[in-house]
Amino acid sequence: MFDSISGRYDLLNHVLSLGVDRWWRKSMVRRARRCRPQSVLDVATGTGDSAIALKKSGATRIVGADISAQMLKVAEAKSGAAGIEFVKADGEQLPFEDGCFDVVTIAFGIRNFERRLQGLQEMRRVLRQNGTLIVLELSMPANGVARNLYKLYFLRVVPLLGRLISRNSYAYRYLPRSVGEFPPRKAFAAEIREAGFENVKAATLSGGLATIYEARRR
Ligand SMILES: C[S@@+](CC[C@H](N)C(=O)[O-])C[C@H]1O[C@@H](n2cnc3c(N)ncnc32)[C@H](O)[C@@H]1O
Repeated sequence: MFDSISGRYDLLNHVLSLGVDRWWRKSMVRRARRCRPQSVLDVATGTGDSAIALKKSGATRIVGADISAQMLKVAEAKSGAAGIEFVKADGEQLPFEDGCFDVVTIAFGIRNFERRLQGLQEMRRVLRQNGTLIVLELSMPANGVARNLYKLYFLRVVPLLGRLISRNSYAYRYLPRSVGEFPPRKAFAAEIREAGFENVKAATLSGGLATIYEARRR
């Protein structure tokens, strides 16, 4: 699915999020930078915007991994991508040694995993001890009115614009469904703990439209 929408993905991302995805990524980079990392892995990196933004984390090694070859092609062609290693890999089975990254990030990706716990365990495996996991994911606002507006936008506007711009109606009907099926904050924080992390913190962004989770590898 991501192979087929790769050419229009960035445009749709910025249009559908009204540009706020850039702010959310900046929040992720700020958290990464606080860890003073040497090496960062961005899982499900897609067209590479997060990996490119992570250059500001101060890390000397940045790797972006994704299962979609076409998404990676778009990433590699970007001017900011110089110096970033892009690797085609399944996040549920990462081709990296144990403990080789200081920070692992994943933005709007974990929602798409078939075996989410397995993915989190893999991210833990490749992190060094006390390394940091940062997960950025779309979420539903808790407030009633905001939640209803959000549902209207996601269930009506997003599939329509998605179909018109990407010509792939399935992908943009899948998007709201995948957000709706993703576990609420407390439940996902519990999954992160189950995968072997501690100090799990969740912060809401833009009134709950997105949530950023940060956790330390045990
Ligand atoms: C919504 S896009 C997010 C891309 C990027 N992180 C961003 O912030 O724009 C989701 C990405 O997850 C990737 N993906 C889905 N399942 C994956 C898996 N098991 N392993 C690695 N990447 C995966 C898709 O190929 C796609 O590029």
